[in-house]
Amino acid sequence: MQKLFFTQFLPNHFQMKIFNVIIINVLVSILCYSQTQKPFLMQTDFHPAQIWSDTNGNPINAHGGGVIFFEGKYYWYGEHKLAGKSEAQFADGGIHCYSSEDLFNWKDEGIVLSVDYQDEKSDLAYGCILERPKVVYNEKNKQFVAYFKLYLRGIGYETSNVGVAVSDKPAGPFVYHHRFHGGGSPKGSGDFSMFRDDDGNLYHLTVRKPDKAFVIGKLDGDYYYPEGDYQICKGIELHTEAPVVIKRKGVYHLLGSGSSGWKPNAARYYTSKSILGEWTYHGNPCHGYNKIDSVGIEKTFGGQSSYIIPVQGISDAYIAMFDIWRPENPVAGRYIWLPIEIKEDKFSITWRDNWNLDAFGQ
Ligand code: GAL
Repeated sequence: MQKLFFTQFLPNHFQMKIFNVIIINVLVSILCYSQTQKPFLMQTDFHPAQIWSDTNGNPINAHGGGVIFFEGKYYWYGEHKLAGKSEAQFADGGIHCYSSEDLFNWKDEGIVLSVDYQDEKSDLAYGCILERPKVVYNEKNKQFVAYFKLYLRGIGYETSNVGVAVSDKPAGPFVYHHRFHGGGSPKGSGDFSMFRDDDGNLYHLTVRKPDKAFVIGKLDGDYYYPEGDYQICKGIELHTEAPVVIKRKGVYHLLGSGSSGWKPNAARYYTSKSILGEWTYHGNPCHGYNKIDSVGIEKTFGGQSSYIIPVQGISDAYIAMFDIWRPENPVAGRYIWLPIEIKEDKFSITWRDNWNLDAFGQ
């Protein structure tokens, strides 16, 4: 073996040792390099309000979203925010989808419905506002139906539509189908929850424009259009936004927020024995303090509600999803996912720095 210049004066066993150290260093460097190329580490905990990366190592870009479970996988759909744009500069790029088997590690399925960058006349023309997508599976048509708040390009927040897009697969692509004015109002409606009851009926619960009354309407069997009139949900305060409704043991639970644009406010919680109301108010269900952003429950830890995920395989386990909005740089918005604790059949949501599904066994 050719001797390295500086080793030739050393005894043989030292030369071998130095040679081994060099080889090990080279191997470790190769390994480290390949790892920096793909920095993904399996995640086993939720870290509310911290940057959450997908399995490619990119921060998840799915804001104001919702999660469904289909054939062994969860699908998370949310607003794709365009990098380098503020909300005022039109940051909405469409619906971004991720899939996961465990709720911690999310694979990027791409943008499953894009705004239209070519056709200025399209309902989805770039410059429209496309928010809070939620997907529901229609058993009858074997179709995934996506709903979103849609404000047409050039119109702004004044008149709203519910945009509807469809796909025969959970990870899309979705095809834009039509739009309608929610709430039975020509001005449409704002934030909403799509709630499917045990009998298959789908309801659109939403804040009506311009009077901000909280209303409910039933959709047709295709889940395309409201069927019949909307009615006011008695007991729910005016200006209730960011609603999500789920049913547990025959009782309907509604989590929502007040109305202060992108700025957080206190969460609101209601229950009812009938989806049509009357609803009972239970105040703010949140407890604790988000030390990362120094925000308490009067501002929902800095977040606004968006969805409640029923966890598969664990009975009575639900995760509340909130968004931390960043209107100046929306792509940097973060997520707060927290377990729902149920005491005497009422929900409560306590801040945790990190947690996993064991929280439901406690
Ligand atoms: C929030 C709403 C968001 C967005 C924002 C705009 O109240 O939940 O989806 O529309 O207002 O100011």
